[in-house]
Amino acid sequence: MQSKIKIALIGYGKMGQEIEALCKDSEIFEIVSISYKNKDESLDLEGIAKADVALDFTSKDVVLKNIQEVSKLGVNMVVGTTGWSDSLDEVKKIIEKNKIGFIYSPNFSVGVNIFFKMMDNAIKLFAKLPEYDAYGLEIHHKAKKDSPSGTALKIASKIKGLNFTSIRAGRNPGFHEVVFDSEADGITLSHQAYNRVGFAKGALMAAEFIKNKKGVYSFEDIL
Ligand SMILES: NC(=O)c1ccc[n+]([C@@H]2O[C@H](COP(=O)([O-])OP(=O)(O)OC[C@H]3O[C@@H](n4cnc5c(N)ncnc54)[C@H](OP(=O)(O)O)[C@@H]3O)[C@@H](O)[C@H]2O)c1
Repeated sequence: MQSKIKIALIGYGKMGQEIEALCKDSEIFEIVSISYKNKDESLDLEGIAKADVALDFTSKDVVLKNIQEVSKLGVNMVVGTTGWSDSLDEVKKIIEKNKIGFIYSPNFSVGVNIFFKMMDNAIKLFAKLPEYDAYGLEIHHKAKKDSPSGTALKIASKIKGLNFTSIRAGRNPGFHEVVFDSEADGITLSHQAYNRVGFAKGALMAAEFIKNKKGVYSFEDIL
C-alpha cells in the first residue's frame, strides 16, 4: 500500500477544520501537524518538518511569515490565505531561493475556476459589443476579513473598469456574480458556494499535485 500524503495544517479556523474533517477517514491524506489551534501558539516547526505538504489558511497578517519559515524547512506549500497578492514577487523569490514547490489560489473551488473560464469566454465575446457594461457583486459572511475578496480582485483584473460591490454580512460562504448589461438585455454569470467543502477538496487536490514538484504554480495549472 502506498504511504499517505502527510499534511501540516497551518490555521485551524473554518477552513483548517474543514480540511481536517476531509482527511479523517482518508486513504490518501493524513494530518501530522496543526499550527495555531490558538493564535498565541507559534508555528509547529518540528511537526511541519515531517510533512510532505503544509496547507496555509490563516490571515494576511501572518501568511508571509509562515511562507518564510516553512520554505526554510524545505516543505512544499499550498496557500489558500488571501490578501497578500501585492507580495507575490517577494514570495516567488523566497520559493526560488529555498527550492520548494508552492501552489496558491484565492479560490480552490473547482466550480469557481470553471466560472472563471466561462467568464474569460464571455469577456472575449463582449469585447466586440461596447453597448454592454459589466458590473459585479460578491457576498461573504460577516467574519471574512478581506474586502474585496481575492476572487473578486481576480475578476476585476480581467475586466477593465469593472464596477464592483462587496457585501460582508450574514453567513454566506461565498457568492460572486458578473452582469453584462445593455439597453436591450442583460446576461448574468454567477457562482454560489453552498459550504466550504469545495474549497477544502480543491486544496487537497493541490496538495497531491505539488507534493513532488518545485516552483510556483497557481490552481489554474492543475485544471
Ligand atoms: N483559497 C480558498 O479557496 C479559500 C477559501 C476560504 C477561505 N480562504 C481564505 O483562507 C483564510 C482563512 O479562512 P478561514 O475562513 O479559515 O478563517 P478563520 O476561520 O478566521 O481561521 C483563520 C485561522 O488562522 C489563525 N490566524 C489568523 N491570524 C493569525 C495570526 N496573526 N497569527 C496566528 N494565527 C492566526 C486563526 O486563529 P484564531 O482562531 O485564534 O484567530 C485561525 O486558526 C482567509 O484568508 C480566507 O480569505 C481561502
